[in-house]
Amino acid sequence: MANSKLTAIFSLLLLLLLLPADSTLLPEIKQQRKRDEPYVGINIGTDVSNFLSPADLVAFLQLQKITHVRLYDADGGILKALAKTKIRVIISVPNNQLLGIGSSNSTAAAWIGRNVAAYYPQTLIIAVAVGDEVLTTIPYSSPVLMPAIESLYSALVAANLHTQIKISTPHAASLVLDPFPPSQAFFNQSFTSILSPLLQFLSRTQSPLMVNLYPYYVFMQNKGVVPLDNSLFKPLTPSKEMVDPNTLLHYTNVFDAMIDSVYFSMKNLNFTDIVVLVTETGWPSKGDSKEPYAMTDNADTYNSNLIKHVFDRSGTPLHPELTSSVYIYELFNEDLRSPPVSEANWGLFYGNTTPVYLLHVSGSGTFLGNDTTNQTYCVAADDVDPKTLQAALDWACGPGRSNCSEIQPGETCYQPNNVKDHASYAFDSYYQKEERAAGSCDFKGVATITTTDPSHGSCIFPGSKQVINKTSDRVNSTVSSGAGTLRFTSIQTSGSLFGVAARGSGTRYKFGSRLRTSESFDPEHQNIDHYHPALPNDHERQNPNH
Ligand SMILES: *[C@@H]1O[C@H](CO)[C@@H](O)[C@H](O)[C@H]1NC(C)=O
Ligand SMILES: *[C@@H]1O[C@H](CO)[C@@H](O)[C@H](O)[C@H]1NC(C)=O
Ligand SMILES: *[C@@H]1O[C@H](CO)[C@@H](O)[C@H](O)[C@H]1NC(C)=O
Ligand SMILES: *[C@@H]1O[C@H](CO)[C@@H](O)[C@H](O)[C@H]1NC(C)=O
Ligand SMILES: *[C@@H]1O[C@H](CO)[C@@H](O)[C@H](O)[C@H]1NC(C)=O
Ligand SMILES: *[C@@H]1O[C@H](CO)[C@@H](O)[C@H](O)[C@H]1NC(C)=O
Ligand SMILES: *[C@@H]1O[C@H](CO)[C@@H](O)[C@H](O)[C@H]1NC(C)=O
Ligand SMILES: *[C@@H]1O[C@H](CO)[C@@H](O)[C@H](O)[C@H]1NC(C)=O
Repeated sequence: MANSKLTAIFSLLLLLLLLPADSTLLPEIKQQRKRDEPYVGINIGTDVSNFLSPADLVAFLQLQKITHVRLYDADGGILKALAKTKIRVIISVPNNQLLGIGSSNSTAAAWIGRNVAAYYPQTLIIAVAVGDEVLTTIPYSSPVLMPAIESLYSALVAANLHTQIKISTPHAASLVLDPFPPSQAFFNQSFTSILSPLLQFLSRTQSPLMVNLYPYYVFMQNKGVVPLDNSLFKPLTPSKEMVDPNTLLHYTNVFDAMIDSVYFSMKNLNFTDIVVLVTETGWPSKGDSKEPYAMTDNADTYNSNLIKHVFDRSGTPLHPELTSSVYIYELFNEDLRSPPVSEANWGLFYGNTTPVYLLHVSGSGTFLGNDTTNQTYCVAADDVDPKTLQAALDWACGPGRSNCSEIQPGETCYQPNNVKDHASYAFDSYYQKEERAAGSCDFKGVATITTTDPSHGSCIFPGSKQVINKTSDRVNSTVSSGAGTLRFTSIQTSGSLFGVAARGSGTRYKFGSRLRTSESFDPEHQNIDHYHPALPNDHERQNPNH
């Protein structure tokens, strides 16, 4: 893929973004410019012992401030209970009804009448998912997929509901071959005869392409190749980012790479105006010995980071202007599902609504408002190389432009006066300033993310919800200092961290990659005065005129 071609497309998208709303915007962009913030929804599987009554289920969804759900069928009880709530719902045609609907227009019309028209608009049905992973799980039914979609659409048109309610069909990610690097991805050609008309339909009706994306399985199937951190959206040092050699786009997580691989696959079939909607993604919290990475910690990290990723609206490297909405798989652990063990452990909650784990999604709007959220902080890790720690502290308070005023002598976080505590404050200051962006809490491995508020006494860390006690005494207010008054010599911008990217030419950050060269930390390339928090006669360093 020619670089210049992509640049042209990207510029075009940018240009379109800047045009007034009534001009010929691509549907995808128009869609996100309107009311449509990207959202996080949740799948509701019902293979659960003592499944909640519809009324209790809806009360629970409201308590959790869940705004979007996907059902695997069109359960009348649940649809009725959802009436007059603001919860938006995708209903589904189960795979076993596909044949009937695909072979008879009247069956399709009856289905729409019974499951959509009967509830809408009291119940905010936003889409009908026709089957689930039909091409890969029931390939013999593939021939009826498009007929089913077309007749359901005709029935919606007849009921004049086709502008409010979209029709699409969720696909398995395995349709995409060679997903890494994303620019080389393409749909398995065996399915072109169905995908081409499908994409035409989606483009014509401005409907999303639904895909089920599981970085978990990508990780499991490519162990040793795909690092766990990339799969979990963990902050990465630039050297661990994946770089697409054709586009030179930097991928910090598998999820974005998967989405872009779908965009590239569509582009190979000449479709560039269809939005990707992630109808399933998640991480299991438990597995047997064959699935050691199915565990609570990873599930929590994945889903928490996923939610933050969506609400951050940062899009993907290919489409930074476009953030896909996602549906987490899934609300409840489905204890009745057959082995492997992980199958019964994808839920955020047990069937009785007890959380399986507490998500850490503070600052991500009101989703899962049941106080299952927590703020994250960046602090110095234990048992790390003191020299690197010192260099990182120097960097954070200097070129990193953290606000280090509170760790100056006499200020509230000066005590305890040691490198580790001061580094923690400086790292957290940097991390919060960067809005907890991926990669902003690493510092060559000497920093770590925590959910425990590191504030102590009157020392309030950046990002803490604790209210600063205005009346609290400063330890010594006679010594004044402020941010930016520490004296540092200039640093050299390092090249070595970007070894992976170096294959490219000087154009490597052309596509709005959010990598910030000037703000990366590399201790080997530090050439700055050390900031010695412990030295009593350090005042000289705080004199900006010196
Ligand atoms: C079903 O509806 C489609 C779309 O309106 C139409 O093209 C097709 O001829 C109909 N099939 C039958 C059997 O009526
Ligand atoms: C493409 O799909 C066909 C049909 O499902 C399958 O047999 C084939 O193995 C797939 N190709 C690859 C490379 O996975
Ligand atoms: C896509 O468009 C190009 C240029 O118009 C054409 O050469 C190519 O055959 C098209 N590909 C498909 C799959 O339609
Ligand atoms: C969720 O909220 C309900 C009602 O406010 C409360 O009873 C329950 O303890 C909360 N659960 C958690 C885990 O916070
Ligand atoms: C640095 O932090 C202090 C205390 O939190 C605050 O008063 C000051 O305004 C900050 N300075 C800058 C430049 O943000
Ligand atoms: C949030 O973090 C605090 C520690 O700062 C911890 O005590 C608390 O249990 C956490 N809350 C949740 C809901 O995870
Ligand atoms: C605030 O500071 C005052 C004076 O030091 C103290 O009496 C009070 O308990 C503090 N309040 C809190 C919430 O820490
Ligand atoms: C503040 O610092 C000055 C000079 O370093 C010292 O003389 C004074 O006792 C200190 N005051 C307090 C309250 O620690």
